[in-house]
Amino acid sequence: MNKRLLSIGLAVLVSAGYSLSAFAQAKPETLVKQRQSAMVLQGKYFGPLGGMAQGKVPYDQAVVARNAGYLDALSRMAWDGFNPNTKDVKSAALPAVYSDTAKFKEAQDHFISEASKLAAVSKSGDEAAVKAQIGAVGKTCGGCHENFREKQ
Ligand code: HEC
Repeated sequence: MNKRLLSIGLAVLVSAGYSLSAFAQAKPETLVKQRQSAMVLQGKYFGPLGGMAQGKVPYDQAVVARNAGYLDALSRMAWDGFNPNTKDVKSAALPAVYSDTAKFKEAQDHFISEASKLAAVSKSGDEAAVKAQIGAVGKTCGGCHENFREKQ
């Protein structure tokens, strides 16, 4: 890339509120906001699938395949936001997030693996298998919230 373009690119990054070091040292409040945003998007893209699995929303193969792909990516995004330096920021995360880290990590891995299976099976067009896998993903959301999120 030529130097002028590179410096314009960096200027845009900085004016968007990022400096290169900020990626490594985001403020705790920012990390909390980002992890909650990832969760909100998980809710957005999982919600209709949950409805389809329960027969409340008509089954739509194209929406399933798209949302499952988004969820596969989103399932990996929130976790670095649960940095110990965010412990004292007000949020719905329970203290167990920072004390029972092995169990929290296990719940993340379980979710990532089920979301990844859903992305794979969503391409098959096998409605019954897709609905069963949507249920499996939903259980991983609920299971983690049960142990690691304040009751809503
Ligand atoms: C490994 C644990 C874990 C998994 C898996 C998980 N969550 Fe969460 N979720 C949390 C925690 C912890 C919070 C509270 C975060 C906070 O307040 O900073 C949360 C918060 C949320 C919120 C509220 C966000 C806000 O602040 O407005 C939504 C919505 C949500 N999760 C949806 C989902 C959905 C949908 C799934 C599955 C597709 C899911 N989560 C999977 C742990 C998890």
